[in-house]
Amino acid sequence: MRYLLPQNESAEVDLDQAYAYPEQAAGRSYVRSNFVSSADGGAEVGGRSGPLGGDGDRQVFRTLRWLCDVVLVGAGTVRHENYGPVIVPPQRRELRVAAGLAAVPPVAVVTASATLDPAARLFDAEVRPVVLTCAAAPADRRAALAQVAEVVLCGDNTVEPAAALAALAERGLTRVLLEGGPTLHAQLAGAGLLDELCLTVAPLLAGPDRKTITMGDGWPEPARLRLIQVLTEDGSLFLRYQRA
Ligand SMILES: NC(=O)c1ccc[n+]([C@@H]2O[C@H](COP(=O)([O-])OP(=O)(O)OC[C@H]3O[C@@H](n4cnc5c(N)ncnc54)[C@H](OP(=O)(O)O)[C@@H]3O)[C@@H](O)[C@H]2O)c1
Repeated sequence: MRYLLPQNESAEVDLDQAYAYPEQAAGRSYVRSNFVSSADGGAEVGGRSGPLGGDGDRQVFRTLRWLCDVVLVGAGTVRHENYGPVIVPPQRRELRVAAGLAAVPPVAVVTASATLDPAARLFDAEVRPVVLTCAAAPADRRAALAQVAEVVLCGDNTVEPAAALAALAERGLTRVLLEGGPTLHAQLAGAGLLDELCLTVAPLLAGPDRKTITMGDGWPEPARLRLIQVLTEDGSLFLRYQRA
């Protein structure tokens, strides 16, 4: 992998360095999203993002997980992708602990319906996942999930994005890695709560009728971004944007 921007960087990319969180991320919530998209903006093929990403994308995906305090994800992605817990190899655990992070970051799932299977692989985790839900979620489903996760109410009929981030911050989880999906992404970005977007552009056309990286109700204004880094490998672009 090599740098296109900044242009004077050395040829060999250290991904830990390239994707280091800014200093302030330890003190307040800093939300970084990570998506892969086709050249025509598709965020899934057959309901999965896997077919879009190559080796470089998988490397970035893993690195971002290893740098964060918590992986935040919407229930749609958990169901579509049969999400599992974060896997951190022993050497990376040591690095994380030395840097003051927990050995393994939990996954936090956002759901209004609490329609998640307590027997799903996500809940067979070394670190207890967090379920961010709302008062309107059926009590029996919430109770079932409380057996396998920490269940936190962050709103009445829906999860308020700011309340979800506050609940994570209360638990010391401020370096937030938002892995989607498009619906949750649009809500955080639309509320002005997205600090950074890491976007892999894969060299393929996904074709018509695909989800994009933001879905749901439209915004009155676009959210402006500033391009701060571009890496490339095997025809893929790895773009890093911050909120303008
Ligand atoms: N290309 C990529 O990098 C990438 C990344 C992630 C996902 N994807 C793709 O995106 C697709 C899934 O899209 P999606 O939009 O359904 O994903 P999503 O945003 O993960 O899930 C939507 C669901 O999340 C919950 N949710 C979101 N915002 C909420 C809020 N404010 N309050 C309460 N619940 C909230 C709801 O769950 P309940 O229905 O349980 O209430 C909602 O139905 C999949 O095909 C996946 O492969 C692609």
